[in-house]
Amino acid sequence: CGIVGYVGPQQAEDIVVNGLRRLEYRGYDSAGVALVVDGKLVSEKRAGKIANLDKALADHPLPESTTGIGHTRWATHGPPTDRNAHPHLGQQNRVALVHNGIIENFAQLRTELENAGHELRSDTDTEVAAHLLEAEVSAGADLTTAMQHVCNRLEGAFTLVAVDAHDADRVVAARRNSPLVVGLGEGENFLASDVAAFIEHTREALELGQDQVVTITREGVEVTDFHGKPAEAKPYHVDWDLSAAEKDGYDWFMRKEIHEQPRAIADSMLGRRDASGALQLDEIRISEGELRDVDKIIVVACGTAFYAGLVAKYAIEHWTRIPCEVELAHEFRYRDPILTRDTLVVAISQSGETADTLMAIRHAREQRAKVLAICNTNGSTIPRESDAVIYTHAGPEIGVASTKGFMTQLVACYLLALYLAQVRGTRYGDEISSVVRELEKMPEHVQRVLDESGPVHELAAELRDAKSVLFLGRHTGYPIALEGALKLKELAYIHAEGFAAGELKHGPIALVEDQMPVFCVIPPQGRDFLHDKMVSGIQEVRARGARTIVLAEEDDDSVAPYADVLIRLPKVPTLLQPMVAVVPFQLFACELATQKGHDVDQPRNLAKSVTVE
Ligand code: G6P
Repeated sequence: CGIVGYVGPQQAEDIVVNGLRRLEYRGYDSAGVALVVDGKLVSEKRAGKIANLDKALADHPLPESTTGIGHTRWATHGPPTDRNAHPHLGQQNRVALVHNGIIENFAQLRTELENAGHELRSDTDTEVAAHLLEAEVSAGADLTTAMQHVCNRLEGAFTLVAVDAHDADRVVAARRNSPLVVGLGEGENFLASDVAAFIEHTREALELGQDQVVTITREGVEVTDFHGKPAEAKPYHVDWDLSAAEKDGYDWFMRKEIHEQPRAIADSMLGRRDASGALQLDEIRISEGELRDVDKIIVVACGTAFYAGLVAKYAIEHWTRIPCEVELAHEFRYRDPILTRDTLVVAISQSGETADTLMAIRHAREQRAKVLAICNTNGSTIPRESDAVIYTHAGPEIGVASTKGFMTQLVACYLLALYLAQVRGTRYGDEISSVVRELEKMPEHVQRVLDESGPVHELAAELRDAKSVLFLGRHTGYPIALEGALKLKELAYIHAEGFAAGELKHGPIALVEDQMPVFCVIPPQGRDFLHDKMVSGIQEVRARGARTIVLAEEDDDSVAPYADVLIRLPKVPTLLQPMVAVVPFQLFACELATQKGHDVDQPRNLAKSVTVE
């Protein structure tokens, strides 16, 4: 969810609603604001996108106020309705509260409140916190102390931001396992789930730590722990500019982000070599000795990032000879994985806030494994809680479906594999430099795929009524087949599945029927027997009537007889082929969804950053 709080000289409603608009990608099934006006609260909230809230505010303008909070929601407890939208108020409408996360013990707290005569008006877990907070201030506590007390009673993950109608001078927030930052202004201060909400007003920010309560007033900011003890928050300067978060003339953020990939790859390659030409990482709090002792790597991630992890396995095992497993973060913790001090857990997360991935790394660290994060969001929770970090430099990714985030995750995975090979001496410096040079050429290759994407657009028009689509690949083409299918599901709402082509004859081939579109990723030629095996796979599906769309190297003539549509890819090493092969799939899904009239940037039921388990 997106959260904003403001206190200062300006109109709080404008600041809060504009901030919410910048955060809409964090959740967009309902939105609301609450303001403090003459010792009372006024509030407006609506199910649906922020436009619905805008309309409600235009129809029934709220009185002027300079203190307020707002929220844009992704439902966890209770369906997305006006009633369940935040802010939630206490029993006497004195305290208003917005929340991101899940309060795990809410049922118990709710019963307790109801037994004490409270009437709750929504199905949310949040409302109990509003009632508890109001009970504390009604009993004489100030809002800051009340927040500290209430946080000690809550279990789960939360960012809370609250106002008290009797105290127009402060906004109070708390954080546990959910993001929260403070924007520092002159005579005004801001709270938000991320800096995009306030960078129009200030670029000076404070990053809150775990289990902290923060009070903002016009004059200052005070941070404590949940027991009222003064605590430190880390100041930093935000250098992302607002235009980086705008669409640059594209119809969708996603399309813009697909086209930004050559830049994103190049940026992610910057500064990776020291003066001697050796690879170096950003933040390494693991010694070379410890890296040499690593005897197992486990990659954990969710969604698209998980597919980057599957590619990483091929690169890591090939270059380092360290056994590597890849696991969905939400499965990892619960199967009691075998971890030791010599296990390296690699967490891949664009946002750095995905709760499933965060919980996986906490589990890994409890078991003394070392954790390295690959992340696109500086200062987010996952890298903060890791022993080492490789930041991808994709810039803000607004489209919910990850594209440039994924691409730069691939870059970081290759760099990690090469770095480990360098430290452990499993590859010679020359070989490492030669792969790095290949990586440095990838922006050009990806640019060419983008420039020659005309046929993909025609194909989208042709296949817009497809009911089901298959994607096949082998080796590193397999994760890309999975990613191609995921993109189509997420954006075009078409049933799609990715398979390892060798598995076809063990089941999936039964699905193939006349005219069913089947995308096939062909490995580069000359790599063992992989290429030829994949070519046989196309023949098998074609013999059953499939319409084959084949992605193959530019001079690969062997596939032409079996391809209804042929998409050419630049010649690159097999391990790097995912970087060029994924691009037509991203464009295809984006284009098909556009043609079907879907909201590409905010597909139904999805959130950019899933901060609940
Ligand atoms: C959500 C997004 C996906 C993304 C996944 C992991 O489900 O919709 O596009 O791949 O989260 O996100 P992360 O930020 O951890 O990479």
